[in-house]
Amino acid sequence: MALRRLLLASAAVLATLAALPAQAQAPIVIKFSHVVAPDTPKGKGAQRFKELAEAKTGGRVKIEVYPNSQLYKDKEEMEALQLGSVQMLAPSLAKFGPLGVKEFEVFDLPFLFKDTDAFRAVTEGPLGADLFKKLEPKGIKGLAYWDNGFHIMSANKPLHTVADFKGMKMRIQSSKVLDAQMRALGAIPQVMAFSELYQALQTGVVDGTEGVPSNFYTQKIFEVQKHMTLSNHGHLAYAVIVNKKFWDGLPADIRTQLEAAIKESTTYANAIASTENGRALEGIKASNRVTIYTPTPAEINEWKKALMPVHKEMESRVGKATIEAAYKAAGFVAPK
Ligand code: LMR
Repeated sequence: MALRRLLLASAAVLATLAALPAQAQAPIVIKFSHVVAPDTPKGKGAQRFKELAEAKTGGRVKIEVYPNSQLYKDKEEMEALQLGSVQMLAPSLAKFGPLGVKEFEVFDLPFLFKDTDAFRAVTEGPLGADLFKKLEPKGIKGLAYWDNGFHIMSANKPLHTVADFKGMKMRIQSSKVLDAQMRALGAIPQVMAFSELYQALQTGVVDGTEGVPSNFYTQKIFEVQKHMTLSNHGHLAYAVIVNKKFWDGLPADIRTQLEAAIKESTTYANAIASTENGRALEGIKASNRVTIYTPTPAEINEWKKALMPVHKEMESRVGKATIEAAYKAAGFVAPK
C-alpha cells in the first residue's frame, strides 16, 4: 500500500515536471480588439504594436489583433475589456460616456482644436493624464492617445450651410456632445455602432454621418454616400487601454518592454494619421462617386456660430473645469 502511494506520488511529480517547460514557454496572449480596418492609422498602429511587442519580449508575449469588430462591436468591446475577455482596445474618445467617464467627451466639442498640435497639447498635458486616472476605478488603464485627424460630413445631398442639416438623420458615436452638436445643426442624431454604419446608410436608416476619410474609404462609405464636406469640425482620436488587473499582474520586465512598444507604436500611429487620411481622401475622389466640397470661410463661420452654444450647454455633462483645462491647453479662442 505504501509502495503504491509512493509510486503514485512519484508519477504525479514526474507529470508536473514534464509539464513545466511547456508552461514556462507558453506566451502571454494579449487580445487587441478594434472596430476599424487593418489599413487605417489605428489598424496599422495595432499591427506595429504587435510586431514591436513580440520582438521586444522575445516572443514571451503574443499579440492577437482582431480588427473590424470581428470580436466585439463598440459597446461590447468595453464590457469585454472590463471582464477580461480581451486585454487591449483603442476606442475613440467619443465612446467613454457609456462607461461613466463623461469627461472624455470634451474632445468632441466642435471646433475645439485648430490643428493636431492643439489636440496633442491636451492629451500630452495634465488633462490627458487626469482622464486616464478616471479610468482606473473602472478597472481600465490608459496607455496612450492615438490621433486620427478631423471629421468631415457626408450625406446623399450637399451639406454646405446649417440649413442643409435640417431633419437629416445623422449617425454619431455614443458621445452626448456629438448628439448636441447634431441637434444644434438641426439634424437628428442617431447613436450606432461603427460596424453597422455602411448598412444603415445603404438602407436609409440614417441619411448621413460624420467621420474621417480613412474610415470612409476603408469601410467603402463612398459607395453609399454622394456628398462629403471637408468641414474639419470635430476631431477623432483613440485611447489605447488595457484591463488594469491584467496589466498590473504582468511580470515587471515584460510590462517595461510593452510600455516601450506602446511608446514607439504611438509615435508611428500619430505620424501616419494625416498622410493616411490624405491618401484615403484621394482614394474617395478617385472612385468618382462622391462630390467633395470645401466650405467657404463664411460657411464655416455660420457653422461655428450655430455650434458654439454646444460648448456652454455641455458644461453640465463634461464639467466646466475640464472644458477650461482643454481650452487652456489647446489655446482655444472662442470665435467672435
Ligand atoms: C466611429 O465609430 O466612427 C469611429 O470611432 C471608428 C473608429 O474607431 O475610428
